[in-house]
Amino acid sequence: MRQPLLERYRDRLPVGAETPVISLLEGFTPLVPLAGPSEARDRSVRIFAKYEGLNPTGSFKDRGMTMAVSKAAEHRSEAVAAASTGNTAASAAAYAARAGMKAIVVLPAGYVAAGKVAQSLVHGARIVQVNGNFDDALRLVRELSERYPVTLVNSVNPFRIQGQKTLAFEVVEELGRAPDYHALPVGNAGNITAHWMGYSELYADGTTDERPRMLGFQAAGAAPIVRGVPVEDPQTIATAIRIGRPASWEGARNARDESGGAIEAVTDEEILRAYHYLAHGEGLFVEPASAASLAGVWRWLRAGKIAEGSTVVLTLTGHGLKDPGTAEREVRLPEPAAPDIDAVAAAAGL
Ligand code: F0G
Repeated sequence: MRQPLLERYRDRLPVGAETPVISLLEGFTPLVPLAGPSEARDRSVRIFAKYEGLNPTGSFKDRGMTMAVSKAAEHRSEAVAAASTGNTAASAAAYAARAGMKAIVVLPAGYVAAGKVAQSLVHGARIVQVNGNFDDALRLVRELSERYPVTLVNSVNPFRIQGQKTLAFEVVEELGRAPDYHALPVGNAGNITAHWMGYSELYADGTTDERPRMLGFQAAGAAPIVRGVPVEDPQTIATAIRIGRPASWEGARNARDESGGAIEAVTDEEILRAYHYLAHGEGLFVEPASAASLAGVWRWLRAGKIAEGSTVVLTLTGHGLKDPGTAEREVRLPEPAAPDIDAVAAAAGL
């Protein structure tokens, strides 16, 4: 039987006998080797995709949410709250439903992909849309959790980071070692912080001899860490990472500097090229933010900065079905054909 993440890694997580395990059987996502040719691919470099879209709510957030909601239940909390670009909201809503708690999610109005809003609604979250961006929503929900009896489950809650570090454990189990590079998109910067924590713990206890160089990629219109200053009006098609003041800025900087890695920006055009390649070239449907990881790795390959024979892991953070709006804008749906064989064959290009 498949185990809850908190059971599987109980000895590496802050889980006690008194912790009720609130689980939807998250984690254990496939590490898929990229197969097809792609323009910028050096054939001696092996690239693997950790397909986090296959988590119960369709994103990596479930790893952190099982931990945060279990701890909230242990502390007898009746409500959890999160600001979100969408995935945290969907995950909080689902795990709160599972725990019999209330979920309050504060969203930047007009900038959350349709699938994520639908999930939050149907799981029964109380949705508050604010006329502002994610950074405004996070400021407000932090204050809400100080004034009212609700547990904050954004990644500023340290249990979220603890849960999310398990991704590194799974990668090392699958590869039998740490990869040479680990690339992922960066928004609020909790995930890069968590990945680095996971690899560092395995390194510290001797499970691995090496740690990967961490490569974080922000969208060019929302790249505060790359620029070194907050971005007041972040903009990108990758709404999941449309963030101007990352809460875990320092964790991201540490991951970059301690690992000898980098945090760089990729343009929306590069993100969309990688989005289409993953879907059409590899059969992996991801949301735009997730594709930033491959877009960034392509840059590194083009620049010859990844040594021959290296192993690279990408975290594909969220499922493509989260964001049907982008798919519909990117690929035009043809007009309906008449219901006769000739029209259908012609429409099928046969
Ligand atoms: N990819 C996806 C699909 C995300 O939803 C997020 C963050 C990230 C990458 C970036 O991860 O914030 O840890 O650096 N989404 C948050 C949310 C902000 O509210 O769902 P990060």
